[in-house]
Amino acid sequence: MSFSRVCALTQLTPGRAVAALVHGAQVAVVRVAADEVYAVGHHDPFSGANVMARGIVGSTTVDGEPVPTITSPMFKQAFDLRTGVCLSDPTVSLGSWPVRVVDGQVEIGPAHEVPRTTDEEAS
Ligand code: FES
Repeated sequence: MSFSRVCALTQLTPGRAVAALVHGAQVAVVRVAADEVYAVGHHDPFSGANVMARGIVGSTTVDGEPVPTITSPMFKQAFDLRTGVCLSDPTVSLGSWPVRVVDGQVEIGPAHEVPRTTDEEAS
């Protein structure tokens, strides 16, 4: 298991997500600030569509802590970019992948949290 190079950090626009294929998984890569990059699943578990890289990048406050978020363009659920977990239903997660920046290149490692889907989609 290893980190894969996805693109140069300069190719990512802060506040925007891009879709990437990492070890066979569709991942939404999001740069939220100068060197802060997150990777979560591109598959929206609520709509069943691969749309998260077209989601809205933002932030919210949970228990007084700032939380970077991505919101589904379909049904508007918000997910924590750090973990992929849905803020309104913690049993659902986009999954998340570790990201590092090496020599200005964004690299993504093996998933540290696998996607968890909704009961509706699983059935
Ligand atoms: S080779 Fe290590 S995660 Fe794919």
